Amino acid sequence: MQKRVTVVGAGHVGATLVQRIAEARLADVVMVDVVEGVPQGKGLDLLEAGPVLGYDSKVTGTNGYDETAGSDIIVITAGLARKPGMSRDDLLAANGDIVKKVAQETGRLSPNAIMIVVTNPMDVMAYVAMRASGFPRERVVGMGGVLDSARFRTFIAMELGVSVENTHAFVLGGHGDSMVPLPRYSTVAGIPITEIMSAEQISRLVERTRNGGAEIVALLKTGSAYYAPSAATLEMVEAMLLDKKKILPCSAYLEGEYGVQGAFAGVPVKLGAKGVEQVVEITLSADENAAFMKSVDAVRAGCAKFM
Ligand SMILES: NC(=O)c1ccc[n+]([C@@H]2O[C@H](COP(=O)([O-])OP(=O)(O)OC[C@H]3O[C@@H](n4cnc5c(N)ncnc54)[C@H](O)[C@@H]3O)[C@@H](O)[C@H]2O)c1
Repeated sequence: MQKRVTVVGAGHVGATLVQRIAEARLADVVMVDVVEGVPQGKGLDLLEAGPVLGYDSKVTGTNGYDETAGSDIIVITAGLARKPGMSRDDLLAANGDIVKKVAQETGRLSPNAIMIVVTNPMDVMAYVAMRASGFPRERVVGMGGVLDSARFRTFIAMELGVSVENTHAFVLGGHGDSMVPLPRYSTVAGIPITEIMSAEQISRLVERTRNGGAEIVALLKTGSAYYAPSAATLEMVEAMLLDKKKILPCSAYLEGEYGVQGAFAGVPVKLGAKGVEQVVEITLSADENAAFMKSVDAVRAGCAKFM
């Protein structure tokens, strides 16, 4: 039977993700949004691209949740972006309410699904989704590290003039200003970048990675990145639907790993059909560990509002 993925939020990230899933012929997709007509219109438009591109994925757009029942994966991209005059706390509260409701509705109708949370502030929203759905930690995961690592890889490839395919990068910690890129574990054709780049080059690329989201917001002026975020989410969807056991940096709920008890943070995890099948622990240097813990504290402060 064809797998089913629900994508909540038919905005930039959500609709582009639906397009990517259909074009990869991975699953049927149900797209949900509160705005009347938008998910239906985008869904029909994507269906009509199928004959040209040769995919048979059924794309359904709806303002309700009934059609999402029995989904294998639920991706939450619904939420507000920051507007002038809005504080981070306003966004946190508004998106927290949205994600809570979405996780309750979708979780009830697809009790065995895996949830991928994209809505920002992502690590906190993953916690809200886990609480609201009642899902075990293996089945709630946040998208952030794959995107941050992809940005780091892009900048490494640009700097060295090599193929992006030669690059691997690890970015851990919360998906925010306090993220922790790990140059030691970032490689070009297997060679750590610390061997082939100067400290100045690395710190410049690390800084650009940290500001990767803001750099795009500043260029677009309205809205934020969505091509790379949807591609990063697709990689996670594919790893789980195809049970690839792929190790990717994702936000997972830690229960003792990395010395963290009860918080979401970006760490390497093994993604397969059961969701987060393993948290992979790597040894951090004292500096890396301090940066990681600082980033976890920032996530905890956001979560405190939803305890
Ligand atoms: N984790 C990451 O790395 C990452 C990357 C990019 C974007 N984001 C976040 O993803 C979210 C979506 O970004 P976007 O660019 O697609 O924004 P967008 O404004 O284009 O789309 C958001 C959509 O959510 C819908 N929505 C709002 N409330 C809803 C509800 N209760 N139920 C269903 N749908 C609802 C809106 O109508 C809109 O269509 C934002 O919070 C953004 O910050 C996260």
